[in-house]
Amino acid sequence: MVDLETVEISITVNGTDRSLSVEPSDLLIDVLRNQLSLKGTKRSCDVEVCGACTVLVDRLPVSSCTTLAVDVDGRSLTTIEGVEHAGELSRVQQAFVDHAALQCGFCTPGMVLAMTALLEINPKPSDEEIRHFLRGNICRCTGYIKILEAVKSLV
Ligand code: FES
Ligand code: FES
Repeated sequence: MVDLETVEISITVNGTDRSLSVEPSDLLIDVLRNQLSLKGTKRSCDVEVCGACTVLVDRLPVSSCTTLAVDVDGRSLTTIEGVEHAGELSRVQQAFVDHAALQCGFCTPGMVLAMTALLEINPKPSDEEIRHFLRGNICRCTGYIKILEAVKSLV
């Protein structure tokens, strides 16, 4: 029997092809966290303000709390779990560690993904460009200075 309430989507998540059954109203964050157990994608504001839920869709940052899963059908996604390579932190992750650019860490997955996208688009961003790109990611702990220092160390 065909379930008219579900839709089949095919996505690539962290390099692995996945076929999923989702409801038309399912949010991407819920599919990632609940169906794929990718808990590094964090939920906070739920209204596209804080950036905690940021994932990359075709290498660009997207708020997964306000993105329908059906809208990423056929796309390639990267979550924080897909940023490291062969057990090694990515250079952005390592820079955050080296510069103590995190405290509670709740914002860190979104920050790392946003900065990964920025440096791919613009390998030599100015301070202003880094600040502008970070406007969609809120951190309640660090005061941003160490995050800026971490990103600037890679420029
Ligand atoms: S939880 Fe998505 S932007 Fe805040
Ligand atoms: S490190 Fe706690 S919110 Fe950013």
